[in-house]
Amino acid sequence: MDGNLELFKKSLAGKLFGKNLHFYQEVHSTNDTAFSLGMHNAAEGTAVIADSQTGGKGRLQRRWHSPPGDNLYTSVILKPEFETFRASQIPLMAGVAVARALDHYCSGITLKWPNDVMIRGKKVCGILSQAKLSANKINFIVLGIGINVNMDTHRFPEEIRNIATSLAIETGAIISRQELIISLYENLEKCYKQLLQKGFIPVRQEWLRLAPMIGRQMKIVFKNEAIEGTAVGLDDNGSLILMTAENKAITVSAGDSTIMR
Ligand code: BTN
Repeated sequence: MDGNLELFKKSLAGKLFGKNLHFYQEVHSTNDTAFSLGMHNAAEGTAVIADSQTGGKGRLQRRWHSPPGDNLYTSVILKPEFETFRASQIPLMAGVAVARALDHYCSGITLKWPNDVMIRGKKVCGILSQAKLSANKINFIVLGIGINVNMDTHRFPEEIRNIATSLAIETGAIISRQELIISLYENLEKCYKQLLQKGFIPVRQEWLRLAPMIGRQMKIVFKNEAIEGTAVGLDDNGSLILMTAENKAITVSAGDSTIMR
């Protein structure tokens, strides 16, 4: 991590996210580490940060490219006291929080369903949340966030080079990862409290404002199935609502989205 770790920990004291901080040079996946901390009853707000991941996980069983030195890989533990169906609101809330944090560095930040954060159409951040549920209760949620911070284009694997970006590529400046984490955790705390206190509606409104796909013709691909329709909104589970050519509203809960026109 850039800078002094002790000073960094001090600046997170008293904050919800990061006051209990576990920092590693290398882990398999910060989500796995946070999940096992959760299983050992770690407090809400406990945060894991790693400089690199050997098995960084993406959505839909994909890998998240996680080399050392340049990026941000973090997972935090949440224990919201709400109904289990609302667990899927957490990654959407996180997308809004990341967008707020990145907006300070760069213009052109948008969201892409389900939970990618984009800069001028290229992916800068991925979010992966995993919930531990029992009966009708959320035991805890691990919210994992990966942000490409100081990566150069040539360091991305070839297959994602045209669709991925980093803050440094977009701004031409080297970004302090410590400052970015502090701002990320602050924004996450604000958005999370807003979700707990005011419900999903304000978060959803902000999400929709940041998502250029709303009102556009979309294609959603999941496994071997593709669905097309106009994106009209998000339901209470964070599923995308599409209006088909036959004027039928359908909801989609997982997949990869592309704007067609
Ligand atoms: C995606 O867009 O597919 C989600 C990527 C999520 C990556 C982050 S990096 C920190 C945390 N640990 C993981 O193993 N994955 C998430």
